[in-house]
Amino acid sequence: MVGHRTQDYWGRPLQDLRISVMDRCSFRCPYCMPESLYPEEFRFLSGQERLSFDEIVQIARVAVQLGVRKLRLTGGEPLLRADLPELITRLASLEGVEDLALTTNGVLLPRQALALRQAGLHRVTVSLDALDPTTFEQMSGGRGRVEQVLEGIEAARRVNFPKGIKINTVVQRGVNEKDVRPLALYGRQRGIVVRFIEYMDVGTRNGWQISDVVRAEDILALLSEDGELERLPSYEQHDVAQRYRYRHDGSEIGVIASVTSPFCRGCSRARLSSDGKLHTCLFSAEGFDLRSLLRGQDMFSLEEVMRSIWQERRDRYSDRRFHQHDKLSSGSRVEMNYIGG
Ligand code: GTP
Ligand code: 5AD
Ligand code: SF4
Ligand code: SF4
Repeated sequence: MVGHRTQDYWGRPLQDLRISVMDRCSFRCPYCMPESLYPEEFRFLSGQERLSFDEIVQIARVAVQLGVRKLRLTGGEPLLRADLPELITRLASLEGVEDLALTTNGVLLPRQALALRQAGLHRVTVSLDALDPTTFEQMSGGRGRVEQVLEGIEAARRVNFPKGIKINTVVQRGVNEKDVRPLALYGRQRGIVVRFIEYMDVGTRNGWQISDVVRAEDILALLSEDGELERLPSYEQHDVAQRYRYRHDGSEIGVIASVTSPFCRGCSRARLSSDGKLHTCLFSAEGFDLRSLLRGQDMFSLEEVMRSIWQERRDRYSDRRFHQHDKLSSGSRVEMNYIGG
């Protein structure tokens, strides 16, 4: 059964569920999993500790009953999870799922794009921070080569995902501002929307400072050097990206300004970590342990628990950071590799 709207304390409906299926990643982007804090011997989750496909599907089914229409698979790197197409087939067949997407670093797409498409994935978002090989290497923590990601994007283009491809670019001051215009052009030439993301203080491990952020208005000023931009309306009220179009050729780019223009007011996203914790904010310290609930003998139903978690939700971290003009010192926050952004 397709469910009705469940609203949180501020009246925001639950519409999206982001599911991290794998806490490992082949890259060590310094803004996400810096090498110094994720060395070879880092203890990632064991197979047992990660949610099984059955558990993920159970949770997704309840989320859909509570109003979720959009599912996104994330990581770490989701394509490192064995047999992922099997999970995608099961999620795609849930009645009520209108949008099924995946965020990836792109390296495994040449091998997996066709199977993902055949399993029923609607679209992919590839993270790509630079076209320049040296900058790319720096931003992937020395683990990746830009050609691999470009090959991944080509593989995704060839299989024709029904809802297409997007590119995500995190912009860091003094690191990849010079890559912004070439990346936008790369996307525009291929009909792919590139979204430029203000670097955020997610997790506790990237040493974020407000001075590292390139503000959306500065990103837009760079992009305007290639032509006049006009703002486009959002597809949906809760979308995170501001959309723009070049007047001269109609090509589109996006900007995600969660630092300088927070969008908590419309935030409709819940996040499921790879170890089964339900988080109601990207910046939350604690998630609710759904894995224990599913594996234990508890009397409460998953639906009751998930509904009441959402109904009690009051999160608005980015709004509060904005008013304080800096990182909030509230201590712990879930790490990016468990929650996938
Ligand atoms: P589309 O559905 O394609 O528009 O993508 P999305 O809105 O799900 O965004 P995506 O997963 O591609 O994430 C893009 C960037 O926005 C990443 O850096 C995310 O961490 C960030 N982001 C996504 N959702 C939120 C959110 O609810 N809050 C904050 N602060 N950042 C978010
Ligand atoms: N700030 C902004 N975006 C980030 N991502 C990872 N870490 C950060 C950060 N600190 C992005 C990745 C990916 C998306 C899911 O989140 O580049 O595209
Ligand atoms: Fe991996 Fe993406 Fe994090 Fe980079 S940003 S370390 S590719 S999960
Ligand atoms: Fe939603 Fe939290 Fe992001 Fe605000 S900071 S938009 S509440 S996830």
